[in-house]
Amino acid sequence: MRDASPAWGVVRAFMRSRCGVMLAEDQHYLLDARLGPLAREFRFPSVEAFVAAACGPSSEERLRRAVVDAMTTHETTFFRDRPFWKVLEEVIIPSFKTSGKRAIRVWSAACSTGQEPYSLAMLLEELWPAGAAASEIIATDVSEIALDKAREGSFTQLEVNRGLSTGKLVRFFEQNTLSYRVKESIRKRITFKADNLLSPTPGPKDCDLVMCRNVLIYFDENDRQQVQRRLRSSVITGGQLGFGATEMSSQGVPMGGGWYRPR
Ligand SMILES: C[S@@+](CC[C@H](N)C(=O)[O-])C[C@H]1O[C@@H](n2cnc3c(N)ncnc32)[C@H](O)[C@@H]1O
Repeated sequence: MRDASPAWGVVRAFMRSRCGVMLAEDQHYLLDARLGPLAREFRFPSVEAFVAAACGPSSEERLRRAVVDAMTTHETTFFRDRPFWKVLEEVIIPSFKTSGKRAIRVWSAACSTGQEPYSLAMLLEELWPAGAAASEIIATDVSEIALDKAREGSFTQLEVNRGLSTGKLVRFFEQNTLSYRVKESIRKRITFKADNLLSPTPGPKDCDLVMCRNVLIYFDENDRQQVQRRLRSSVITGGQLGFGATEMSSQGVPMGGGWYRPR
């Protein structure tokens, strides 16, 4: 493995300012591993030449986006972190059902390839079909590639093996030759769109539930606090914010993640 190239410093600064993601100095192997294929795809003579063209202030947006797509981590699974979903299943969704509410509005922030909002849509349909049909799920991410896959809703055998019960697979997916696609009746309940958590403009308004999981761990404390303020401002009074088990404690967010009502 080669030593850190100055280009790695440029990529780190770019990712930090573009989407808050902190990459470590000693992760320089990612330069070749993740950006080498892009340099070849866009026909640059070297990864350094690609970085110089893609990460500058006046770089083409399509190159900047390609760097963000390549350098963000999209690891996710259906029903990731069971205890989180158990609270939704046993407490939160039943409470909506008995509250007399007709529908809810949910924001799944940093949704990656869609397993999280699809998990929610399936659970809502199972537990509260009338409410599910009228509810709105907004799912966002900074990565266009992740969002394209999420919108498509097609998952490999390996991906559906991670977290989905056979019952849900049979009920909510149609099987194709090499993949399983979420049925249209569930896909159409989710609106996928690009959003940068660090954006100065507010996120979706008046949400009953906002989930933001397994992303703030990549941010520094300042950015985490900024994002948490933005997320809180999207939750209606009485609504709930859900964090992941890897989210760090900050401003009263419980260590270990879970659901809580912001004040
Ligand atoms: C590890 S995945 C987590 C996916 C899902 N929430 C889960 O817990 O399984 C992190 C996601 O955060 C997204 N991300 C990173 N920085 C972001 C930012 N500034 N704004 C929005 N999304 C971001 C990445 O593109 C990636 O899809």
